[in-house]
Amino acid sequence: MSEIREQVNRTLESATPALYAALSPLGRRMFYPADIPVQAQEARQTTFNGTIGIFTDGRGNAVPLPSMDAVLTLSEDDRNRAFLYSPVPGFEELRTLWGDWQRDDMADAPATCLPFATAGLAHALSIIADLFGGEGRAIAIPTPFWGNYRQNFELRTGAVVRSAPAYHEGRFNPRAIEEALADLPSGEPAVAMLNFPSNPGGYSPTREEREELKRSLLRIADQRPLVTVHDDAYNELVYEAGVPKRSFFWDMVGTHEQLIPIKVDGATKEFAFFGGRVGFLTFGLDLDATTTEALESKLKSISRATIGSPVATSQVILLQALRSGKAREEVEQIRAIAAERYQAIQPALAALDPTLLRLLPFNSGFFVLLEMPAELGLDPHAVRKHLIEHYSTGIVSISPRYLRIATCSVAADALPELVARVERGVRELAGRR
Ligand SMILES: Cc1ncc(COP(=O)(O)O)c(C=O)c1O
Repeated sequence: MSEIREQVNRTLESATPALYAALSPLGRRMFYPADIPVQAQEARQTTFNGTIGIFTDGRGNAVPLPSMDAVLTLSEDDRNRAFLYSPVPGFEELRTLWGDWQRDDMADAPATCLPFATAGLAHALSIIADLFGGEGRAIAIPTPFWGNYRQNFELRTGAVVRSAPAYHEGRFNPRAIEEALADLPSGEPAVAMLNFPSNPGGYSPTREEREELKRSLLRIADQRPLVTVHDDAYNELVYEAGVPKRSFFWDMVGTHEQLIPIKVDGATKEFAFFGGRVGFLTFGLDLDATTTEALESKLKSISRATIGSPVATSQVILLQALRSGKAREEVEQIRAIAAERYQAIQPALAALDPTLLRLLPFNSGFFVLLEMPAELGLDPHAVRKHLIEHYSTGIVSISPRYLRIATCSVAADALPELVARVERGVRELAGRR
């Protein structure tokens, strides 16, 4: 067994030294042994195939319960795919079609690895945390950030979150990651989290800000192996003309030999398929077949050891959309509703009393982030509870003084009243009239 690991590690070390240097102890340990999935794959064409533990009709077909079968209208092939196990990296057809979806309208897209299917984006992030996190590993995340990053990297793997403000004086700070890593010894690998449109901030950088951010990341990569994680959960949900929609991942692919860009995306938000749990992990590296296999050996072993294989039924449902030729149009319809809500909330945000609530940069995504001035001394969690109790209004509170409104889950015509209630609640707790 350890011979396979040796070979996998040697391949990665010689073909992608920066990636190898950034691997955690767990990442170095993992490899995909010639276990049941490998043996079953090798025996796929045999007449008498007694390898894998799936119940079939004896001829390779699924035997779903009729009551479950009745809810899915599928071809024979897709029915088998939906009810039997998926390959650990996901269905090949889906991986290819998702790769095409990522590149839509992009004639100049650089080569990357094939997307690797996961059980939603959180699972994709956990694979990255396993591969590149671990005790003491620096992970730079501009603050405020989605709290699950900390659970995933710091609490689960022992990595150390380093932060710097995502916004300075009400403007996006393109150097936050560089500031967060400023005193990390040169040569020590690091992970950087990039999430545009962001959660909780609802912001996507402008063209100029992206240029500055790119220069900043390249300066870091001059000093150390840098894994940039591009969390594109809210891909292309950008509402202001002139702000680039295309994922920042594409700006970073192939720009520096010490930089390893990884795209995390999926059907959860992009296709409004929240319960489906289909995510993807895409390495922005142009690797030969042997190196791809070595990298996938790591990904497959982590995925199989944690979730077994990604959900087959959801992949088959997503496949129907991608094959239909209507996915772009249907996704655009959802984006149009999100854009309508963005417009609907603007007058209420513009009317906010800045001594009570300040709007942080907002041009995209699913969320508005408001900051209460420090001098009010209000605890955001107490404000949140007050709003539930006295104003029948639910929002998310984030330390030390932020309130997040999810515009995605409120009808356009209800948003102004929601904002007004938040302001009234804050005014009351601040002892103002
Ligand atoms: C920025 C960001 N990344 C990842 C996720 C997780 O997505 P999933 O539900 O597919 O695990 C979320 C969910 O809210 C998110 O906001």
